[in-house]
Amino acid sequence: MMGWVSMSSLIIFLYFLLHFPSYNCLLCNPHDKYALSQFKNSFFVLNSSLHFHYKYGPCSSYSSRIESWKNITDCCGWDGITCDTKSGHVIGLHLYCSDLRGELLGLNSSIFKLRHLQQLSLTYNDFFGSSIHSSIGNFVNLTHLTLSAFRISGHLPSTISHLSKLEHLFISRMDSLPDDPTRIRIDDYTWNRLIRNATNLRNIYFGEVNMSSVGESSLSLLTNLSSSLVSLLLRGTQIQGKLPTDILRLPNLQKIFLTNNGNLRGELPKSNWTTPLRVLSLYDTAFSGYIPDSIGYLKFLHTLDLYGCNFDGFLPPSLFNLTQLSLLDLLNNKLVGPIPTQITKLSKLSILDLSGNMLNGPIPRGCYSLPSLWYLNLGSNQLTGSIGKFSTNSLQTLRLSNNKLQGNFPNSIFQLQNLINLDLSSIGLSGVVDFHQFSKLKALNSLDLSHNSLLSLKFENNFDCILPNLRYLYLSSTNVSSFPKFIAPNLQDLDLSHNTIRGSIPKWFHENLLRSWKNIGYIDLSFNKLRGDLPIPPNGIGFFSVSNNELSGDISSALCNASTLSILNWASNNLTGLIPQCLVAFPSLWVLDLQDNNLYGSIPDNFSKGNSFETLKLNGNQLKGPLPRSLAHCTNLEVLDLGNNNIEDMFPYWLEILTTLQVLSLRSNKFHGVIASFGTKLPFPKLKIFDISDNYFTGPLPVSYIHNFQGMMNANDNQIGLKYLGQNSLYNDSIVIVMKGRYMELTRILTVFTSIDLSNNMFEGEIPKVIGELHSLKGLNLSHNRITGTIPISLGNLSNLEWLDLSWNQLKGEIPLALTNLNFLAVLNLSQNQFEGMLPKGGQFNTFENDSYVGNPMLCGIPLSKSCKENKEKSPYSTLDKEESGFGWKSVVVGYACGMIFGIILGCNVFFIGKPQLLARLVERVLNVRLIRLT
Ligand SMILES: *[C@@H]1O[C@H](CO)[C@@H](O)[C@H](O)[C@H]1NC(C)=O
Ligand SMILES: *[C@@H]1O[C@H](CO)[C@@H](O)[C@H](O)[C@H]1NC(C)=O
Ligand SMILES: *[C@@H]1O[C@H](CO)[C@@H](O)[C@H](O)[C@H]1NC(C)=O
Ligand SMILES: *[C@@H]1O[C@H](CO)[C@@H](O)[C@H](O)[C@H]1NC(C)=O
Ligand SMILES: *[C@@H]1O[C@H](CO)[C@@H](O)[C@H](O)[C@H]1NC(C)=O
Ligand SMILES: *[C@@H]1O[C@H](CO)[C@@H](O)[C@H](O)[C@H]1NC(C)=O
Repeated sequence: MMGWVSMSSLIIFLYFLLHFPSYNCLLCNPHDKYALSQFKNSFFVLNSSLHFHYKYGPCSSYSSRIESWKNITDCCGWDGITCDTKSGHVIGLHLYCSDLRGELLGLNSSIFKLRHLQQLSLTYNDFFGSSIHSSIGNFVNLTHLTLSAFRISGHLPSTISHLSKLEHLFISRMDSLPDDPTRIRIDDYTWNRLIRNATNLRNIYFGEVNMSSVGESSLSLLTNLSSSLVSLLLRGTQIQGKLPTDILRLPNLQKIFLTNNGNLRGELPKSNWTTPLRVLSLYDTAFSGYIPDSIGYLKFLHTLDLYGCNFDGFLPPSLFNLTQLSLLDLLNNKLVGPIPTQITKLSKLSILDLSGNMLNGPIPRGCYSLPSLWYLNLGSNQLTGSIGKFSTNSLQTLRLSNNKLQGNFPNSIFQLQNLINLDLSSIGLSGVVDFHQFSKLKALNSLDLSHNSLLSLKFENNFDCILPNLRYLYLSSTNVSSFPKFIAPNLQDLDLSHNTIRGSIPKWFHENLLRSWKNIGYIDLSFNKLRGDLPIPPNGIGFFSVSNNELSGDISSALCNASTLSILNWASNNLTGLIPQCLVAFPSLWVLDLQDNNLYGSIPDNFSKGNSFETLKLNGNQLKGPLPRSLAHCTNLEVLDLGNNNIEDMFPYWLEILTTLQVLSLRSNKFHGVIASFGTKLPFPKLKIFDISDNYFTGPLPVSYIHNFQGMMNANDNQIGLKYLGQNSLYNDSIVIVMKGRYMELTRILTVFTSIDLSNNMFEGEIPKVIGELHSLKGLNLSHNRITGTIPISLGNLSNLEWLDLSWNQLKGEIPLALTNLNFLAVLNLSQNQFEGMLPKGGQFNTFENDSYVGNPMLCGIPLSKSCKENKEKSPYSTLDKEESGFGWKSVVVGYACGMIFGIILGCNVFFIGKPQLLARLVERVLNVRLIRLT
């Protein structure tokens, strides 16, 4: 018997020796083994179909370690277990990537029975929303705790501060965004006690752990760890306040990652920064100040990532003493001055990103020859001079866009055999470039030469320009005058807009579009001189624009295949025929712009429920009515422009329910009848532009709407930057409105722009007082109606009003003095009414001329020739008066030059701020909005 026992022990022993080379011969403690078995049994249901949940994790494979735990063998040999060589106690439990799911450290977890644990790793498992139980504090000898897991929640228990021997503490939630309320959090009290007690901490990694309650003074406790701390990662933790600079100076610290903490402020140490720091990553924090010279002492620094902070000042030359740098990312800061020539010294640099700053001067020669550089982005700065000769072969990405460079296209680029992305847009290149040369760059994936209007691209007439990997080709505004020929089977995006391509679209292009380009998603041929038939977009495409050409003919029903379209822009061509029914049934179409063509027939009535339309513009065609009632299905609609057609209908009160509608233009159609509300509680709550002018509406002005235009009431006076309608830069909404009798096209609709135009109808009755509540209103046109009564004093409350036209009505009485409160009023037309009495003086009224008042024989006072009896001293309208009013002619002239409305804002700003030098900057901002005179 004995023999058998020892024999079988020997066999077991040999088995272990062969299978677990690291296994030490001591048998594991039976209590610990029992605890492990229990743990295994609580997770016996494993379903590999759940794996999808983790597929983005870095685990190359998920092995269910615990499945290999067999009761018959010694637990010290089990996968993921280490034991103490003397006592046989389990001291290490490494279950990363083990596909476990559940309350891994909950109240009943048998892991807590392994009291001698020194290392515990549960990384890349799924806590299933559970939290960590306070029993964690019982692992008094724990040195390594690694819990980077999915769905780990709740408060980190305060008992974690009992773990005074901790050296490595890694806690992060792998699956959550920074604002996820369920992510794990640590409070100020617990952090405080933990950092005070665990004085051996070498590595702290907190990722997406909510630390928003940890205060500045608690953060500064990290300086107590000066002899131990080697790496510190606090990523996306919502820490806020100012980080004590001393933390960046800790003598043993090698890696600092404080990324994605937008409210964390701080500055870089200006002296005594001689630490072994290797990585400094402050990406997306509010660190500011200048980059000090002392950075040059960080001899070991190889990664400097200050992307998206608020650093300003010059690049210190000492930065380029750091010859170990391998990554230098200063994208999107406010750095100024030249790029130091010392950059040549960074021979190990592989990534250099200085884009989005205000750097000036030439590109130093070193940038062209850094031997390891594969990513170079100097875009969006103010660099000048010409582009030099590249002599490094390693470059894969080269971006110099949006600078003030000039000179010829750098031909040395064609030697960059490894180039994948090339962006030289908007930099003022000139010279002739043979497009054929790009076929030397076999790896080229994206090419952007847009907005180089002095560049001349030559395309050969043959087809041997093969770009096998090209996906993105942007040649907008590059003087292309004929359809470029090239072979690019993988093409996805093609932008040839704003060129001078004439004639009809070649057959091969149609062929490629419909057959060869399997991945095509984006085509922009707008603003050329294309003629002939409309090209038909293929199925699969998302964006298709051929606007502003001379294309003609009917819209073919072959279009109906392209049901994947999101944006379709055929505006300003010469298209005829009917709008195909299928078009308004496309499920993802959000912009349909067919304005300024010769389309006729009625608007299709099959807008589907749940459609995606945000912008629908059919302005300037010959469409007939009535309006299709299915338009009411467009519940996301923001812009509806049906102006200048022949639509015959009553007012579409049934559109009141469109809560997102901001622009409604029905101008110049045959709408008629009295406008009555549907009775919706808040009709048109977001409406900002309401234009029903030039129709046949009768009855009183639509008071019930005016009363409820919430979108025109909440003036956002503090809004500084200009905001435009439509979040997507792919399509700029525009609208034609009338100001002072001129048609103007607002090419991008400002969200602050609000106007009401009810002119040229047959409205009668009085102007409702309630109109004075539309505080954001910038333009009001009630001209050419049959409006009676007086001007309500409440009109003086429209403090943002810039133009007011009440001409050609039957208004009477005096012009209320309250109108002089309208500080922004630039255009006033009260002509052809029956006003009487003295013209008000002061404010903007000092700038209006005779023509604002003609046809009111009973008005008197300046600037009219008829003087009032009471006012005998007939002083001429002097320059002095104007200057006293704070509105000198200069600013008015500027105003007229760049669009009246905003010009007047300028005038007043100049007045209020009293600093003419601000004018230039304001003009620039104002010119963002192009007001195009159409007639
Ligand atoms: C494991 O083996 C022990 C004896 O070695 C036995 O008492 C226990 O029930 C077994 N557990 C399981 C789950 O098989
Ligand atoms: C913790 O470590 C100390 C010193 O090594 C040892 O005496 C003690 O038994 C350990 N405690 C546990 C629970 O393992
Ligand atoms: C510090 O750690 C020791 C040892 O684990 C523990 O007894 C003590 O309670 C801890 N102190 C705090 C404030 O957590
Ligand atoms: C820098 O170090 C020197 C010498 O160690 C010390 O005297 C000085 O106070 C330190 N300066 C700062 C700002 O810490
Ligand atoms: C950088 O190097 C230059 C000379 O190469 C030296 O004069 C300067 O002191 C160095 N700066 C720093 C901060 O190390
Ligand atoms: C548009 O078509 C009309 C007639 O169909 C023609 O008279 C006109 O010249 C065309 N316009 C352009 C710009 O091609």
